[in-house]
Amino acid sequence: MSDASRETMLAPLVREGSRILAISGSLRHGSLNTRLLREIAERAPAGVEIELFDGLRSIPPYDADADTGPAPEPIRALRDAIAEADGLLFATPEYNSSIPGVLKNAIDWASRPRATTPFQGKPAAVVGATTGQFGAVWAQAELRKVLRSTGARVVDLELPVAKGHHAVAQRGALLDEVHGPRSAEILRALVTEIQRDRELALID
Ligand code: FNR
Repeated sequence: MSDASRETMLAPLVREGSRILAISGSLRHGSLNTRLLREIAERAPAGVEIELFDGLRSIPPYDADADTGPAPEPIRALRDAIAEADGLLFATPEYNSSIPGVLKNAIDWASRPRATTPFQGKPAAVVGATTGQFGAVWAQAELRKVLRSTGARVVDLELPVAKGHHAVAQRGALLDEVHGPRSAEILRALVTEIQRDRELALID
């Protein structure tokens, strides 16, 4: 899809602008998943701002005893970042057929207290990249399930980027003529969910 047609497709939906918080499930410096989010952000149309969350490394292991009073600073920052975003875009590697522990741990923190979690009703979408041949499909499905259980409204689409290291070595990029349009479709679905929130707010 050309940049022009992507802009045209999204234009009616992004009149007010959408702020999307992007969270990579990998802490690795050369992470394919962080790279995937950056490439999607670079291609985002005008009006869609994608900001990368960089606080995952600072999140302590979840401890219900530490989750009774004021939250530790990294947790407060995570919860605030989620609350302030119009939508969430996650990129996850696959670790042992599931999502990385650091990502699940952060989601567990942000999912509490249940009554005030910033996930409630929050539009979210998931993409993923691996060095293997399946593109983290199981991890993406798992992450959609986990996010739904927190109350997020999760787009039912996936972007499996397989053998990402080869793509980067050969093309210098993860997104190609297949993954580029697919990522635009996922972004469009996410922005549509965000827009639905605004329409409902107008009705209320
Ligand atoms: C992996 N990897 C992996 N890949 C896969 O396709 N299925 C799997 O079950 C696993 N399991 C797994 C476990 C652990 C502990 C590690 C460290 C790695 C490979 C992994 O998905 C791959 O290295 C990704 O490229 C990592 O993502 P980042 O860091 O490049 O974003």
